[in-house]
Amino acid sequence: MPKPSTSPPILMQINPNSLTSEAYRSLRFNIEFSDFEHEVKTIAITSANRGEGKTTTALNLAVAYAQMGKKVVLLDADLRKPSVHIAFGGDSSRGLTSFLNERSSMNEIIHESYVDGLSIIIAGAIPPNPSELLASKQMNVLLAELKNSYDLIIIDTPPVLMLTDAKVVASKCDGVLLVVEYGKVKRREGKKVKDELMLAKAKLIGVVLNKINTQDADDYS
Ligand SMILES: Nc1ncnc2c1ncn2[C@@H]1O[C@H](COP(=O)(O)OP(=O)(O)O)[C@@H](O)[C@H]1O
Ligand SMILES: [Mg+2]
Repeated sequence: MPKPSTSPPILMQINPNSLTSEAYRSLRFNIEFSDFEHEVKTIAITSANRGEGKTTTALNLAVAYAQMGKKVVLLDADLRKPSVHIAFGGDSSRGLTSFLNERSSMNEIIHESYVDGLSIIIAGAIPPNPSELLASKQMNVLLAELKNSYDLIIIDTPPVLMLTDAKVVASKCDGVLLVVEYGKVKRREGKKVKDELMLAKAKLIGVVLNKINTQDADDYS
């Protein structure tokens, strides 16, 4: 896959063999110093398909920002296959869906994590109507409140192809990061995802090429 010459920039390439904080620090650095810095407070992380590395990127990016001294909240909006609660443990009943259903207050769904400065909102019980919940006014209320209390809100979402959830969430965010598994996503698919995000009025702030092996990564330098 050739390196795209037009924006958005490929922020970085994450090597399977160097899943270190250094890689995520440079991703963070690139976002910090991109043109979008002043307006990027809510970032949706998505991809074309499952398994490309959305959750891994969301988690590590959140940790990298927290380690930099930012007040960060990681929100699991993948209501189809949530996984942030697996990484952080804790009570899996109260989360985003209980807030969106107006059964829990914001304080009840925000939990401190074992990483200083990083709070977590897990997905909660899987609802029958994820897209509608994510599109609700209550979701806007949550994002507005979180923006008041945190420097950065990182949002994990389902894949873009075949589901509207990620587009709904991305359209409410300041920016969206697209995670692309190297060698897996066809050009046609990649374009479709980009077009769909643009149609949803999401602002694509970058593409993360994930799971590049060291050999291939050398080809890029
Ligand atoms: N850069 C990487 N190097 C090696 N393995 C990775 C990398 N990114 C993700 N993975 C692995 O790939 C699998 C899918 O990643 P995950 O973040 O859960 O994807 P998604 O959230 O997009 O479905 C997981 O087993 C994860 O550990
Ligand atoms: Mg995931």
